[in-house]
Formats: sequence, C-alpha cells, structure tokens
Amino acid sequence: MQSALIASPVGQRAGVFGTQVRRPAHLSAGALRAPVVTRAASIAAEDVPDMQKRTTMNLLLLGAASLPIGYMAFGFVALLVPPKIAGTAGGQIAKDAAGNDVKGSKWISTHKAGDHSLVQGLKGDATYLVVTEKNEIEKFGINAVCTHLGCVVPWNVNENKFMCPCHGSQYNFQGKVVRGPAPLSLALAHTDVVDDVVFLTEWKETDFRTGLNPWWA
Ligand code: FES
Repeated sequence: MQSALIASPVGQRAGVFGTQVRRPAHLSAGALRAPVVTRAASIAAEDVPDMQKRTTMNLLLLGAASLPIGYMAFGFVALLVPPKIAGTAGGQIAKDAAGNDVKGSKWISTHKAGDHSLVQGLKGDATYLVVTEKNEIEKFGINAVCTHLGCVVPWNVNENKFMCPCHGSQYNFQGKVVRGPAPLSLALAHTDVVDDVVFLTEWKETDFRTGLNPWWA
C-alpha cells in the first residue's frame, strides 16, 4: 500500500493525472523550487512511557480519584441509613405521624396511662407505644399489622383490646391473639428511651405472652 505522505516540488508542470499546473503569478520561480513536505506528527519511541510506567501512573490517578469519590458516596449512603445510638444496635428511632422523632417526655405529657398510640416503627411498620400506669413508656411496642391478612389493627379503648375491622380478629391489650381467624399474636419490639428519644429494637427473646419463640424473628 502506498504512503499518503507525498513530497513534491510545487510548480512542476505535470500535475495529478497528467494535468498542467500553472505557477501563481505572485510567486517567484525560486520559491516554487523548494519542496513542500507534509509530515505526520510523531513522538520518538524513547519519549513514550513504557507499559510499567503507564500502569503505575494509571494506578496513582485511580487512587487519587477514588478518595473524593468514595468520600462523597459514603456521605450519600449515610444520609439514607437511619441513625443509631449506642445501646440501641439494630434499632431505629420511633417517628410520629409527622415524621418527627418521638420524644419520651413530650409523649408522656400528651398521652395518659393506658394509652395505645401509633408510631412508625421497625421497617416502617405501624407500631403501638403503650403508656403504663406509672406514666412511663412500656418496655415493649406492639406491631399493628394483623397476623391474618395484614390489616392495621385499631386499638379499641372501650373494649381494652385491639379489634381488626377486616375479619374480626381480636388481641388483648398486650397484643396476644384472643380471637381468630388471626393465627398468631401481634409482633413485639423493644422500646428504650435514650436521651429522651424513643428507640425501637428487634425482639428476639421468648414471647412473654405465650412462652414461645417469637414467630417474627
Ligand atoms: S386481616 Fe385482620 S382479621 Fe383478617
């Protein structure tokens, strides 16, 4: 294959394909005698870094770029993870209907003894916080999802039990099933007040209402 680089004296009479090339009037004959050489830009072989150097430079560049990118990615992921406080490993902050953290002191001041009210609990499940006769938040929360087909079970203060409107299941004030078709009691979660913030954590111990292993763990 012929090279595309051509060195040719400009002004030679024989042109491409035998056509006549005329000398422009403003150019002298001497100027036309100097050959015009078209050269491709090239780099001497010794100026090209060898493969090992290029690999090292690429690794350095990758390392320098990964630090800020990793830092930004970590910050973004951290925003999506619910905050945790020492002593509440695996748990999360209870949220009220407006999505705010539930504060123990405020909750007690606005919910009287025997109250069962909903918060957003573990995995986003509706969960009842219970206020004891001593005006404290009970040490367990009660998951409001019916164990029959998943309706949210309302608290009936007059009957002192949970009564599911979907198919009539009932649970006592601690969430133990007392009437079907629900096959199981409502799930439990631990509640802890840390620095006045209410936390919910998984209940993995024996279900004190039935003496059985927790079916939800
Ligand atoms: S979903 Fe509650 S009784 Fe059926």
